Amino acid sequence: MDYSSEFQRSISQRDDFWREQAARIDWIKAPEIVWQAKENGHGDWFPDGVLNTCDVALDANIRAGRGDQKALIYDSPVTQTQRAYTYNELTAEVARFAGALRARGIEKGDRVIIYMPMVPQAVIAMLGCARIGAVHSVVFGGFAANELAVRIEDATPKALITASCGIEVNRVIEYKPLVDKAIEQSSHKPEFCIVLQRPQARADLQAGRDVEWNTLMAGAQPVDPVPVKATDPLYILYTSGTTGKPKGVVRDNGGHAVALNYSMSLVYGAKPGDVYWAASDVGWVVGHSYIVYAPLFAGCTSILYEGKPVKTPDAGAFWRVVQDHGVNLLFTAPTAFRAVRKEDPDARELAKYDVSSLQRIFLAGERLDPPTYEWLSEHTGLPVLDHWWQTETGWAICCNPVGIEMMETKPGSATVPSPGFDVQIVDSFGHPVPAGEQGYIAVKLPLPPGCMKTVWGDDERFRRTYLDPIPGYYSSGDGGYIDEDGYVFVMGRTDDVINVAGHRLSTGEMEEVVASHVAVAECCVVGAQDELKGQVPIGLVLVKDGVATDPDELERELVQMVRERIGAIACFQRAMVVDRLPKTRSGKILRRVIRQIADGEAYTVPSTIDDPAILEEISEKFGR
Ligand code: COA
Ligand code: AMP
Repeated sequence: MDYSSEFQRSISQRDDFWREQAARIDWIKAPEIVWQAKENGHGDWFPDGVLNTCDVALDANIRAGRGDQKALIYDSPVTQTQRAYTYNELTAEVARFAGALRARGIEKGDRVIIYMPMVPQAVIAMLGCARIGAVHSVVFGGFAANELAVRIEDATPKALITASCGIEVNRVIEYKPLVDKAIEQSSHKPEFCIVLQRPQARADLQAGRDVEWNTLMAGAQPVDPVPVKATDPLYILYTSGTTGKPKGVVRDNGGHAVALNYSMSLVYGAKPGDVYWAASDVGWVVGHSYIVYAPLFAGCTSILYEGKPVKTPDAGAFWRVVQDHGVNLLFTAPTAFRAVRKEDPDARELAKYDVSSLQRIFLAGERLDPPTYEWLSEHTGLPVLDHWWQTETGWAICCNPVGIEMMETKPGSATVPSPGFDVQIVDSFGHPVPAGEQGYIAVKLPLPPGCMKTVWGDDERFRRTYLDPIPGYYSSGDGGYIDEDGYVFVMGRTDDVINVAGHRLSTGEMEEVVASHVAVAECCVVGAQDELKGQVPIGLVLVKDGVATDPDELERELVQMVRERIGAIACFQRAMVVDRLPKTRSGKILRRVIRQIADGEAYTVPSTIDDPAILEEISEKFGR
């Protein structure tokens, strides 16, 4: 089958198409209904199906004869450790951990927050929750206590799983004080915390609430996977929106397993037994989908890497991992290779390793800039494939469908819509625009399986954010165009979300932190271009009348506040004091123009501006 026929079929014979894909995974009760519509074109996939996601990921591989194959390889240059788990071993650990959770009272539907570094126990915890039908919510370890508190408050978890520390290159980051602070701050209190003690730092335990991972596991009895409905939630993953409050993206069990399994062959061309490495973090959607779930659904070996592309110990780190484990397929964010290229422009490190196992390199998470694409293609001689997706969709909306037909790549394009995603470019009224013209990227409803079900606890926000703006479509929040050949070019967000080193962040959230400083009257944060990280946030700050402040001191305080409230990953390092902020006559801050000035781009003075002279003042501040 060629791409075009497969795509057409996924739209015109949707139910047959997804019924066939559903037949490729193990169900406890196979679904008879493929799609059931609800209001607004949204609905449920496989509503009468029953399965267990952990069973599909682990036990099903043992049944298929892959018990002795490696399921997970932990490679940690920061602790000088490597450890492999076969499917038999991983299943045994997960079954025992699931048993331990159940023995402590965790039941189907209960939420469990996982705040952990990149250790195998993070994967075991996720799969353990799935095994008993508990809903996990992994919080990226780089988030500060306040961010964790917000998620505890929203997800109301019965338990929290953490580790004593994470390791950032050679710095030990203690997690437990952050967890204690977050729980103190939140009005909801988990009943208990499980703490993995790592040798690099020992956490103090709170008697009656905290229990050590090893103590818990010592007496644990394994349990079998419990049947859950395809539509039951598997996990909640919080992601940045335009406001300070992150959105809890809810993923179901059935649609997720079917879609992710399909994506492994479609997008990555993976086969059972392949060694697949997503160099990301379990705290992000890439980690959920392509470190944990999809490679296991597809019977691959997944790599869990606790390190960086550079400095652990050098820019050859990725190539070393490829050689050591015979990686076939590598997926990471462009920023990772920008970091490698910066330190090793001639790819001398690459020549030191045997990377002959590697077949393809995949990039996503932010725009793939042509210099990085060219550097990587030239030095590796391998296909370098961009694909576009979001936390909300869980798998690629656009990709080069190598599993069906390898298409010619066009730099700057994520290639074509994945089967199931009816991607359209529309104007602000929802009318389709002609080929080559920029607009909002929208996906005609229904979305295929695997995409978000709702926002946790706030279905109204889900509808308002994603379904209402363009009736009949899912609004992606990205802008771009489709060319005459049907290639999709994603040009960037149309909202206040920014992408810093492949990490999705909200400028609105940073504005809330900056605005809470006693000296700040008003502020605005925009994402400015950055050679290494893609974008970095920059704040413009208006000081309250009559408040005497030293701008450098204020900047230091604001930087510290954002670090403490959101985390170091926000990379908020600049806050400039200005006399006025450019606004429209109706009082809206002209963020787009500020961003253009920060990037040194030409801009048109908007006709709605209340005082054009402000733009010159801002330009001077940016040294333009
Ligand atoms: N726990 C605690 N702190 C963390 C952290 C974590 N898990 N991850 C990052 N941080 C901290 C860093 O230590 C750094 O702190 P500092 O300001 O005190 O130095 C800060 O957050 C910024 O981190 P980062 O933006 O990652 O910058 P960096 O200079 O440390 O590394 C890259 C730059 C490009 C090497 C790194 O960002 C990278 O590997 N990116 C790939 C991202 C990725 O995989 N994204 C997933 C989508 S596919
Ligand atoms: P996240 O939810 O963290 O995966 O971030 C999703 C956002 O990252 C998208 O809405 C895009 O703005 C951006 N993004 C992801 N992949 C790409 C890509 N291949 N090209 C351009 N932007 C991308």
